[in-house]
Amino acid sequence: MKEKIDKLNRKRKRLMAGGGEKRVKRQHDKGKFTARERIDLLLDEDTFEEIGIFVEHHSTQLGMEDKDVPADGVITGQGRINGRRVFLYAQDFTAMGGSLGEMHAKKIWKMMDMAGKAGVPVIGLNDSGGARIQEGVGSLAGYGGIFYRNSLNSGVIPQLSVILGPCAGGASYSPALNDFVFMVNDTSKMFITGPQVIKSVTGEEVSSEELGGGMTHNEISGNAHFLAPDEQKTFDQIKTLLSFLPSNNKEKPPFRETDDSADRLVKDLEDIVSDNPNKPYDVRDVIERVVDNDFFFEVQPFYARNIVVGFARIAGNSVGIVANQPKFKAGCLDIDSSDKASRFIRFCDSFNIPIITFTDVPGYLPGVDQEYGGVIRHGAKLLYAYSEATVPKINVILRKAYGGAYIAMSSRHLGADYVFAWPSAEIAVMGPQGAANIIFRREINAADDPQKVRTEKIEEYRENFANPYQAAAEGYIDDVILPSESRKKLAAALNIMIDKKEERPAKKHSNMPL
Ligand code: HXC
Repeated sequence: MKEKIDKLNRKRKRLMAGGGEKRVKRQHDKGKFTARERIDLLLDEDTFEEIGIFVEHHSTQLGMEDKDVPADGVITGQGRINGRRVFLYAQDFTAMGGSLGEMHAKKIWKMMDMAGKAGVPVIGLNDSGGARIQEGVGSLAGYGGIFYRNSLNSGVIPQLSVILGPCAGGASYSPALNDFVFMVNDTSKMFITGPQVIKSVTGEEVSSEELGGGMTHNEISGNAHFLAPDEQKTFDQIKTLLSFLPSNNKEKPPFRETDDSADRLVKDLEDIVSDNPNKPYDVRDVIERVVDNDFFFEVQPFYARNIVVGFARIAGNSVGIVANQPKFKAGCLDIDSSDKASRFIRFCDSFNIPIITFTDVPGYLPGVDQEYGGVIRHGAKLLYAYSEATVPKINVILRKAYGGAYIAMSSRHLGADYVFAWPSAEIAVMGPQGAANIIFRREINAADDPQKVRTEKIEEYRENFANPYQAAAEGYIDDVILPSESRKKLAAALNIMIDKKEERPAKKHSNMPL
């Protein structure tokens, strides 16, 4: 027996060493941790249970017959984060560049299958040269199986992708199929075709960081949701995110006791939002004051900044927040902000997280680019996502709510359970200026002093229509509240609706505008 145990220990030791000292040093020199170090940093101490450490490739071509690839380049298993179970896989760049062959892929499939059956999140730590070139179609089949499982698990368990090195070609489609993508400044790279291929095909010259670095995907493409300066901070972000989420779609999100009273009045809210509709403010100042302990965890803070989305808690309950951001593009809706908010709303709805909306929106952004880019289709996603969501939906209209954008931002007409409005709310087909110019055009043009009449008519319109009371008279707004009462009213509405049940017609699946 002793001999056999010694043999096992020797094998384990060799496998634990990954691609060997030299390659580990290279990894560290690039400012990256190894796959095993990453697992230790992410999981609670001593909770990792490895699965499949002895898996080997069985490729015999292009020099693979003698090639030793420890754990076939990916460490897989399960463990705990803040006491809650997760499955994970971590590609080991020191073992053949973390390249994905058939058996490597099958190890990942297994994690995804087990996570789906166990009903717990799956986290992928990506650091790979992509399809293992020597394994040809075997590695393509491997990716295909991952995409298939991503789609099966979608809406069942949270799927997180962490990009900690290269993630090129088709490999980047798995992160795109996940719920949230995390990137690290400087070391993460994602692209379908790299700088050299682009140069040879289109002649464009671009560095790999500019093309597919963390900031690029967080700010420009919107493919990523979180950016951190180093790996440790990325792991902290993952832990924070998971604290808001249930483990699967059958569970409720975790409740966290708070000493922040549900009845707390927020006195300075009325000083943040000016009743001059043209004066910008940072809507995050409103959100932070309303939620528990001022803690708002923003998702995609760099992308489509004219809308803000993220997680927080109100009276201990996890909520998803969607808010127009007057500080950027006056908080208008456009293609990117519609996409960003719709995807977030659908995530929240999949995982039983109530949606709180703060509305201050002048409308959809006018422009040829927007029309050619399909703002009709993209804007429709927001209508669709809010209408489809059956979680509690509560809206607070802070100021402007004009036209189609009023409808789109969690209006009663799309099924909001509660709609509150501040006295500064202006609910109308369009802003007073535009409206007065159209409906009083004749009077204005015929006047001796058109400017004076225009100003009077704008004021008349504002007085009669740009307020919350007409909508409240129709029952489209449930209450006009003092800004200071916002937290109290939200907490009470959430408390009533927290066990909301809403059935929808049976269907195979919906056909949302994509
Ligand atoms: C096999 C690979 C590999 C790959 C890297 N390696 N990528 N082996 N298949 N795809 C190996 C290297 O040979 C090397 O082995 C080790 O991993 C580390 O690679 P280096 O090149 O030394 O590292 P570095 O200089 O950091 O460069 C990393 C890299 C580069 C930028 C990722 O390796 C690279 O360009 N690799 C190829 C990327 C690629 O074209 N992949 C296919 C994409 S297409 P040794 O033994 O020296 O340590 C794709 C299609 C998927 O993925 C489609 C799915 C639908």
